[in-house]
Amino acid sequence: MDDPAFELETDLSTQSILLAAANHDITALRDLLRNTSANVQDLETGFTPLHAAIAALEPDDKPSGDEKLNGHTNGESPEEPAAERKEEIEAAVKTMKLLFQNGAIWNDLDAQGETPGCIAYRLGLRELYELCVDAGVRAELLLSRMDEYQLLGDAGSDDDEDEDEEEEEEGEEVVVVGETGDIMAEEDMATSEAMGLAPGDESTQSANYLSSTLKFDRDRLLDESDNGVMMAWETTLMRRSAELLVPTEGLRVLNVGHGMGIIDGIFQEKKPKAHHIIEAHPDVLKRMKEQGWHEKPGVVVHEGRWQDIVPGLVEKGDLFDAIYFDTFAEEYKALREFFTESVIGLLDPAGGSDGEGGKFGFFNGMGADRQVAYDVYNKIVEMDLFEAGFDTEFETIPVPDLDSEGEWEGVRRKYWVLKDYKLPTCTFIG
Ligand SMILES: C[S@@+](CC[C@H](N)C(=O)[O-])C[C@H]1O[C@@H](n2cnc3c(N)ncnc32)[C@H](O)[C@@H]1O
Repeated sequence: MDDPAFELETDLSTQSILLAAANHDITALRDLLRNTSANVQDLETGFTPLHAAIAALEPDDKPSGDEKLNGHTNGESPEEPAAERKEEIEAAVKTMKLLFQNGAIWNDLDAQGETPGCIAYRLGLRELYELCVDAGVRAELLLSRMDEYQLLGDAGSDDDEDEDEEEEEEGEEVVVVGETGDIMAEEDMATSEAMGLAPGDESTQSANYLSSTLKFDRDRLLDESDNGVMMAWETTLMRRSAELLVPTEGLRVLNVGHGMGIIDGIFQEKKPKAHHIIEAHPDVLKRMKEQGWHEKPGVVVHEGRWQDIVPGLVEKGDLFDAIYFDTFAEEYKALREFFTESVIGLLDPAGGSDGEGGKFGFFNGMGADRQVAYDVYNKIVEMDLFEAGFDTEFETIPVPDLDSEGEWEGVRRKYWVLKDYKLPTCTFIG
């Protein structure tokens, strides 16, 4: 395909479609989309037609920062009359809808590393931002369903299952939100890779992580490649989760993933009747022994991966009033499997401090290096939880500016860049 005439023609049609999108020229766009894909990108800027349609609304006197979506305007420029601005936004909405109908991809990155949704968020264009989030949810749900169909198709052949497992370990499987098979860099899943936005990182694949040497610091736990496994800044989040899950003393608690032992320490303050901990990493287990966790009141330590431990607990009929899940280097699919298949057998429907049913919580960090990814993921997880039989309440907890506090120094990747954490607490529906 080294034909210069062909390349010129391709470039011309790319520029035409980008221009039509930027001008919100629906007629021209419809025409062009007959023969051209909605998924072209400008070689220099990396803009897709979606980027162009949104960026066209950027006022000349760019409003700063991200007061944005919660601010007083919908991307309104001070000089521009509101009515004119409204018309422009309506035209952009129509343009974006047409592009999405023609298969435009919600999370392509431009040369600045922004998705179309990132631009809409930055410019405070709420309506346009929501269109991007909804498109993301649709796309990721579709991918997740396709993955399920593939699994159904594979059922019955052990060989195939083995191959699937190998593929997953190697990170070649492409699935739902967070399931590029790449990293779940840091704290479980919060990464660009999680949203299919960046190249993978083998160090944060589960098997590699579990065989790596860990480094325990006073305020952080890092793996061999300096990925943050757990950091002390999360203590506020752990404490609030523990308070909501275990409001009174004498309850039965299960925690999956000990890490720095922050939440387990808080659970201990609640004097649980039973306190089970599942932990898979040998270095964490060694440290737990050194710190006397096996002798603490009510504590039962299960050494191994939850995937291998939970079936035994279910078989024994162990039931809990509260379950917390916070692992590392696992995909969203693992969390979904846990709440869909494991929690149901472990959480007491007549348990809890009031006998109205036990509660389930988890670290909600996937996609947290990008607001639009976090918003897409949160909608998906809420839907999946509902489908699995749970009502979920999200409490918003502000997160301090971790950059200015130097939290990321020496950490390979920032897994959290957002201002707010959505803390989930789940109960059985009904
Ligand atoms: C983010 S840390 C947990 C932090 C903990 N919530 C705290 O308060 O300190 C994740 C932990 O999950 C463990 N882990 C990872 N995969 C696991 C698995 N499949 N089964 C059990 N534990 C796992 C890791 O070794 C690590 O100790």
